[in-house]
Amino acid sequence: MLASVIPETGGPEVITVEEVPDPEAGDDEVRIAVEACAVNHTDVWVRRGHEGEPPIITGIDVAGRIDAVGDGVEDHEVGDRVVVYWNTTSCGDCEFCNHGEPTMCRDYGGLGVKTDGGHAEYIAVEARHVVTLPDHVSFEKAAAVPSNFGTAWRGLMTRADVGPSDDVLVLGASGGVGHGAVQMAAHAGATVYAASSSEEKAEKLRELGADHVIDYTETDIDDAVAEITDRRGVDVIFESVGGETYEQAVKSLARGGRLVTIGATAGDADHAMLPHVFWKQLEIIGATGATMGEFEDMLDAVFAGEITPVIDSVISLDEIPAAQERLSKGEGFGKIIVRP
Ligand SMILES: NC(=O)c1ccc[n+]([C@@H]2O[C@H](COP(=O)([O-])OP(=O)(O)OC[C@H]3O[C@@H](n4cnc5c(N)ncnc54)[C@H](OP(=O)(O)O)[C@@H]3O)[C@@H](O)[C@H]2O)c1
Ligand SMILES: [Zn+2]
Repeated sequence: MLASVIPETGGPEVITVEEVPDPEAGDDEVRIAVEACAVNHTDVWVRRGHEGEPPIITGIDVAGRIDAVGDGVEDHEVGDRVVVYWNTTSCGDCEFCNHGEPTMCRDYGGLGVKTDGGHAEYIAVEARHVVTLPDHVSFEKAAAVPSNFGTAWRGLMTRADVGPSDDVLVLGASGGVGHGAVQMAAHAGATVYAASSSEEKAEKLRELGADHVIDYTETDIDDAVAEITDRRGVDVIFESVGGETYEQAVKSLARGGRLVTIGATAGDADHAMLPHVFWKQLEIIGATGATMGEFEDMLDAVFAGEITPVIDSVISLDEIPAAQERLSKGEGFGKIIVRP
């Protein structure tokens, strides 16, 4: 089969499309003919050597059709349309896994990071990690949501427990994760603020449920929040950008506010902002990935049409290097999807 491979760490030029052996469906596994697989920022981190260990086939978020089943598989059959829970590597037997927290397991990582992913014509995974896709949900939309909307769900719904009384600000709002967070906050009944870099992106964010959109290229985020909230600040911030944006975020929180950090696209912050944290009695909350239960709750909301991913573009395997470059520049809106 053909696959997009990162043979070694380096720039986008190291990525190759290669002929590799077809995977087989082992015991309790299904083999999926991949119809769609998202491009993620994590693919860039793997290529740069921050996560995972090349050589590896990238591709975390997989949707496709089962084309072979191994011995012991009872709940799925050849032809089923499915979407895959990407965290296939957590050990299932450590103190965190045993408490139902597989995203805290040392082996957390899964497809495209710890084991070959879905930027390929086929992938084999354990049957317990696949969920049947209703006919009205396209493969592209299914592949757009697993790790992205899954992480937004865990961060906002589980970790921050967002509800109708909250003012929620989403940073990195036009990204694969952020545009899901905007919709989840709106669906939870919160008043939604979003920060983005252009009027074109702002318009799309309003359509997804943002009540207030801040253009951070024109004003500091905390100044804009202070003006809109009459200096009160917001209750919850969903933050994936890092760097100076984190510092502006901490300044934007109301007393008793909570900040969920899930990423640092622009790098680490220089300052922890300790005086703001203790004076305002803030909670800084980390979130990564999603449990199978959170994944299924998120999918239920997608299948019901309550939240829906935006597809930025659909590309082929050999366009992955250019897609990674677009992600690194913060271009686009929503998800880039590969059809292998
Ligand atoms: N912890 C986890 O489990 C987890 C899961 C998924 C992703 N992540 C991390 O979360 C971050 C966001 O992921 P994503 O998939 O949403 O990324 P994405 O699709 O590339 O979107 C990121 C968005 O951030 C904004 N941005 C602001 N400053 C930026 C900068 N300096 N460089 C690039 N973009 C910038 C851009 O929107 P504007 O133009 O509107 O500002 C961009 O669209 C990544 O760092 C990713 O690795 C973590
Ligand atoms: Zn474990």
